[in-house]
Amino acid sequence: MKIAVLPGDGIGTEIVAEAIKVLKVLDLPFEMETALVGGAAYEAHGHPLPESTLKLAQASDAVLFGAVGDWKYDTLDRPLRPEQAILGLRKNMGLFANFRPAICYKQLVDASSLKPELVAGLDILIIRELTGDIYFGQPRGRRIATDGHFPGAEEAFDTMRYSRPEIERIAHVAFQAAMKRDKRVTSVDKANVLETFQFWKDIVTEIGLQYPEVTLDHMYVDNAAMQLVRAPKRFDVVVTGNMFGDILSDAAAMLTGSIGMLPSASLNSKNQGLYEPSHGSAPDIAGKGIANPLATILSAAMMLRFSLNQAAAADRIEAAVSKVLDSGLRTTDIWSEGTTRVGTVEMGDAVVAALAK
Ligand code: IPM
Ligand code: MG
Repeated sequence: MKIAVLPGDGIGTEIVAEAIKVLKVLDLPFEMETALVGGAAYEAHGHPLPESTLKLAQASDAVLFGAVGDWKYDTLDRPLRPEQAILGLRKNMGLFANFRPAICYKQLVDASSLKPELVAGLDILIIRELTGDIYFGQPRGRRIATDGHFPGAEEAFDTMRYSRPEIERIAHVAFQAAMKRDKRVTSVDKANVLETFQFWKDIVTEIGLQYPEVTLDHMYVDNAAMQLVRAPKRFDVVVTGNMFGDILSDAAAMLTGSIGMLPSASLNSKNQGLYEPSHGSAPDIAGKGIANPLATILSAAMMLRFSLNQAAAADRIEAAVSKVLDSGLRTTDIWSEGTTRVGTVEMGDAVVAALAK
């Protein structure tokens, strides 16, 4: 089993180090190889996704990814910005299905900004299409040209688009996931305004006919944002496009107490996957040793389950995380009165200790 480890920038290196520590105590036959990505790769090689990093990722069963980005790169031409690394990996590896589960651990009910009764027992799965939509349509703007700028440009645009096969395959992923859960799918669109999302809605409806046991409903994205904070438990599986999924998954993260708790998996049709926390590189807290490593540790668990066929080991990690939360240890982002504040490394150590028991 080969794992490409791409820690990236900011807190990426700190949190990935903790996940590796956890993976190592499992004593499974992994081969891990680390490479630079994002701003770190730009500094060293002049490109956020060097050919060697992409090749390593493509040749691995799974990629464990930290985070990329820093404000200091905001003025670079777009193809050279750190974010292009993650977008390039998603596109080049065909990682079209992004799973972002939002589970509220009972121990963290008080860390959520919502009333406890709204989030207690919350378990939603956001399935975000990851290689289409406005993210990968035709752009035009000041900083996209490799062959020169458009200094005097008076407009900029990005193109929203989806093809039938792209929608069909993500719809199948959503319905199949729902079959293993509460058998409910909410497809989120903006069909009242956008042609792309009328097309989306029609095709999801069509595919839904193949899954008669699953209840399908449709919701406009603005309403979905509202319902997520009004009555989040009404959702089971949410399926949506790249852009709306980006936004809604951040909102859903806060229901769980902190985005520092939210893992994610991005899979292609061969079950090769990239696993990363749903949060970013947080340059404001980088190097301080206070970032929450649990989203990355839980992403490593998803990696074991989805791409490496090690479901038992994944269960063990998740149980260990739950034990650590039971013991009252909290990083700053999930700290509340009466719990014990710990740093990144102590949190990783605690998960390792809980696994050993
Ligand atoms: C995410 C991030 C990325 C995205 C950025 C870093 C390109 O926000 O994974 O949600 O927009 O997809
Ligand atoms: Mg995002």
